[in-house]
Amino acid sequence: MAEAKTQDAIALLKADHRAVEELFEKFEKATASERKRKLAEEICLELSVHAEIEEEIFYPACEGKVDEDLLKESYVEHDGAKVLITEIMNGGPSDEFYDAKVKVLQEEIEHHVEEEEKRLEGLFAQARKAELDMDALGQQLAARKAELTEEFKASGIPTPRLTTMDEVSV
Ligand SMILES: [Fe+2]
Ligand SMILES: [Fe+2]
Repeated sequence: MAEAKTQDAIALLKADHRAVEELFEKFEKATASERKRKLAEEICLELSVHAEIEEEIFYPACEGKVDEDLLKESYVEHDGAKVLITEIMNGGPSDEFYDAKVKVLQEEIEHHVEEEEKRLEGLFAQARKAELDMDALGQQLAARKAELTEEFKASGIPTPRLTTMDEVSV
């Protein structure tokens, strides 16, 4: 198999967005419990890896170079998603609110992706304008993504660390 061409950072992150959108669409159409669980787990895996590589590599590279408020909101939006991801991973398709949690996660992610990809003023557009080295970042993101995906597949998705809020306890 030909070696995958290195993607620049934004191309890689956008491809992740498209992949997860497709999974959400499949979940919407699914009816069998096992299929739903499998798709929801794939969604949670993809999003956990994606949030982690953005927070470890891409967002820090944006620090000081993009609108500070927008960057902060991105971290908070990730944490909101992580709470739902944890809920979904701990639950199952027979739970009363399972489908609703996946749906709300989908809506939150749609909003978040819009904030990242919006033309001109989105986070990615601002990062592009700031002339970050997107090829070098793309390589770092791809390497870390491969590492985390393997790790999470082997030992399960760890309970995500929240960056902007204390762990919620009830
Ligand atoms: Fe993203
Ligand atoms: Fe993000």
